[in-house]
Amino acid sequence: MKILFFTGKGGVGKSTMAAAAAWQLSQKARVLIVSLDPAHNLGDIFGVVIKNGKKKFTKTLFLSEINLKKLSREYLERETDVLSSTYSYLKILNLDSYFSILKYSPGIEEYALLTSIEKTIRDETGFDYIIFDTPPTGLTLRFLALPRVTITWIDRLMQIRRQILEKRYTIHRIRGTLDSEETILDYKEADDDILKRLEKLSDNYHALDGALRGSDCHVVVVFNPDILSLKESKRLIEGLSELHLPLRLLIDNKVTEANSEMAGYVEKEMKGMAKDVSIKRIQLANTLLDGRKGTLYDVPESIIPDSW
Ligand SMILES: Nc1ncnc2c1ncn2[C@@H]1O[C@H](COP(=O)(O)OP(=O)(O)OP(=O)(O)O)[C@@H](O)[C@H]1O
Ligand SMILES: [Mg+2]
Repeated sequence: MKILFFTGKGGVGKSTMAAAAAWQLSQKARVLIVSLDPAHNLGDIFGVVIKNGKKKFTKTLFLSEINLKKLSREYLERETDVLSSTYSYLKILNLDSYFSILKYSPGIEEYALLTSIEKTIRDETGFDYIIFDTPPTGLTLRFLALPRVTITWIDRLMQIRRQILEKRYTIHRIRGTLDSEETILDYKEADDDILKRLEKLSDNYHALDGALRGSDCHVVVVFNPDILSLKESKRLIEGLSELHLPLRLLIDNKVTEANSEMAGYVEKEMKGMAKDVSIKRIQLANTLLDGRKGTLYDVPESIIPDSW
């Protein structure tokens, strides 16, 4: 299974190119396209309403829109349940008030989004391609960076937890056998719920990180022939390279006769930053601007290189 991420500045045509790629690939393979943008327009592009998250468009093409608000709420509820049961003995710290403000803390949406990507990649094994249409640059880079950042944190937390268990073990031995069941503290690593949970999280994030950096992951950067788009795309490419994420295709979208010289300049600049990455040029098409004359996903040029 191949995983494609369509990224780029706001309005450059990420959703349109992702939809066109999904449509073209679905002629010969099974494709799921997932919109991660809170301001979805995947349903609009395909002219359908996507209810309950997922819709069958043709036999080989499925559409999905992630409900970020719902996802963030569910994510928080799940984490709150786990935390409050794990730390039930810490009532004194007034954890309830901590949980009620947690929903305002930065990063919750990114984690919810990441959890949903991880779950989609893990569960949707019946597809040859999963295409993610992402929100504009900033949020995308932040959540793509999360697996690495999280793995580092989890490793550190596991070290701390092991140190705590060691100390508990030492205290346990000093005091000898305890008579009351309730006061016996876990001290074996294998029995410790917190360590078990950290290990599970670590496994999930390692799997996701592997999937994102693996040879089957393709990050596509869409841009337009203009200077602002060029500048933001350069920052995006730098960000992807810092995160070791596999940039595999550049799409110069909305090219016309009038801007073709600029298109050439922007492509040259982009090529200078990403030497081995191929560039596709896509013309501004009237049919895409005017849904009455054609569909909003049927781009005449082929988007995806044949070798994918
Ligand atoms: N090649 C094209 N020819 C004509 N119109 C296009 C082309 N590509 C995109 N458009 C139009 O440009 C507008 C923005 O496209 P789209 O919604 O795909 O961009 P986006 O990058 O996903 O935007 P956002 O950042 O808001 O998610 C839409 O009206 C779309 O129909
Ligand atoms: Mg979009």
